[in-house]
Amino acid sequence: MQPRIVVTRRIPDPALELLARAGKMWLSPHDRPLTRTELQRSVSGADALVTLLHDRVDGPLLDAAGPQLRCVANVAVGYDNIDVAAATERGVVVTNTPGVLTDATADLALALILAVTRRLGDGERLLRARIPWSWHMFFMLGTGLQGKTLGVIGLGAIGQATARRARAFGMNIAYTSRRPAPREVEAELGGARRLPLDELLSTADVVTIHVPLSPNTHHLIDAERLRQMRPEAYLINTARGPIVDERALARALKTQELAGAGLDVFEREPEIDPELLELDNVVLVPHLGSATVETRTAMAVLAAQNVIAVLRRERPPTPINPEVLDPAGAPAPGA
Ligand code: DGY
Repeated sequence: MQPRIVVTRRIPDPALELLARAGKMWLSPHDRPLTRTELQRSVSGADALVTLLHDRVDGPLLDAAGPQLRCVANVAVGYDNIDVAAATERGVVVTNTPGVLTDATADLALALILAVTRRLGDGERLLRARIPWSWHMFFMLGTGLQGKTLGVIGLGAIGQATARRARAFGMNIAYTSRRPAPREVEAELGGARRLPLDELLSTADVVTIHVPLSPNTHHLIDAERLRQMRPEAYLINTARGPIVDERALARALKTQELAGAGLDVFEREPEIDPELLELDNVVLVPHLGSATVETRTAMAVLAAQNVIAVLRRERPPTPINPEVLDPAGAPAPGA
């Protein structure tokens, strides 16, 4: 019998074509996230799920799929929407899409740094509001990046790619990380310095977040940590919204305890804190980190390749819980 593959929302065609050849594919007809009830109904009997970051995959949903479920392929590098322990307990392989979105996300982090430090949002709003203006020496002055310090929270692939771009703009790099980066990485980043978080926050001119969301990083940047930042500093978040206490950030921006922020992700997506929407010193974009045609296609194809490998009992390219696989790389018997 052909395996049933459930795709919870439309993904790029090359990936759908691969999946359609690999089994009996069900694709959600809706151009929106499925409700919890719809999700529970649609996963029933699935051998593989292709999920997006708005789908909560937990024990009850895995049970709603049934014991034949072998794979959950998340089309994202982040997988905070998935209860990986619950999947592992049930012998379900979980995969994500690392690597293919590194450059796109780092590009967006740099775009936000430039947009907020050079006041592009302010300028756009002024022109679109048809407010009269004329060039003068003090008009809409921003802040230069050359010689300033970028503090990177989490020097993984995206953190490094962002730092590399910032070097091209003349910035110095400091970073926090559980382990020191290899010496050659620090050297390539112009002698990047590893600092404790408190020191990084109190010295960096721009702080950019590149850690995954987990219970350890939830509200990692809270009111107290925001107070440690310099009033001339900027905060950039392209990782996950709940890493920052959004209320506290809005307050710090409003009282100018912080010069500005660039946000691609939000605590309660797709809602945005109404206070943030009123502020001029924050650039807001709707979770666009990986939003290029090339990157979204590569993410979806990688997710499809993960599904296909698991269904063929081969090692998937990017498993999150490889302990579910047997030593040869296939899902363990019974899984
Ligand atoms: C991811 O892959 O985790 C990104 O947030 C998607 O843009």
